[in-house]
Amino acid sequence: MLFRTTVIASVALAFVASTVEAHSWADCVDWRFNDPKKPGFRESDGKCFGWARKYPVNSGVAFGGLDSYSPSRHYQQNPADFTPCSDGKHGKEPGGDETRQNPISKSYTKPWGAQAKTTAGKKICMRWPAKNHAVKEEPEHFVFINMPNTTLSADPSQAVFSKNTIAKLPYKNCNDIPGDTDHTPCGGCFTVPATLATGNYVVQWRWQLNPNEFYTSCWDLGVTAAAAPGAVVPLGAKTSIFAELAED
Ligand SMILES: *[C@@H]1O[C@H](CO)[C@@H](O)[C@H](O)[C@H]1NC(C)=O
Repeated sequence: MLFRTTVIASVALAFVASTVEAHSWADCVDWRFNDPKKPGFRESDGKCFGWARKYPVNSGVAFGGLDSYSPSRHYQQNPADFTPCSDGKHGKEPGGDETRQNPISKSYTKPWGAQAKTTAGKKICMRWPAKNHAVKEEPEHFVFINMPNTTLSADPSQAVFSKNTIAKLPYKNCNDIPGDTDHTPCGGCFTVPATLATGNYVVQWRWQLNPNEFYTSCWDLGVTAAAAPGAVVPLGAKTSIFAELAED
């Protein structure tokens, strides 16, 4: 066993040294900029308010390091089954357990990170580590945000997720960190469909690195009721109230 571990470790080292190959995951699924006019993904640019399922927020591992953590967060789907959310068993590279829990809150109570919550129609941002794949020499790879627009009692198949792509985000939207292309912070934003009723919706982050090579992260986005109409709208900002009144 020790021998085997050593062999695997040296093979892994040789691999790292020759190709610097590593893979990504959703690090934060509700990233809020300190200053919306200066959006960015470095620690100094914002804070995280929501995480993917069973995210080990207290691991003590620095940003971008959870691929060498056990269980790893970089889950690579096996094209033979395309298990949509890591179950810790399936996959070319199995990850942690990111299957839907019952109740959903089990994925977001200690020791895990908090659940992401928003309101319909709002923009929500997220971030991920570049893991050396945002360098100039590499082509752009995209992150697909897949989100069925109904609340479900179980996770959908990959086919259903893929039919419900609500955003395609450029993977290489990053803040360069000089000399460290691995821990470079990257991210993007998408708008939660305005038509959604309140409830928990499953969201999948799916990064395509090569043909048929996909990495995913899954979470449950809580869509809560918006503030009462008028409560936060400044006077004069919404002239249509008069139009609505006129029509009544
Ligand atoms: C959900 O998506 C379907 C198909 O695109 C659409 O017809 C339906 O109106 C959507 N429902 C909501 C609540 O957004």
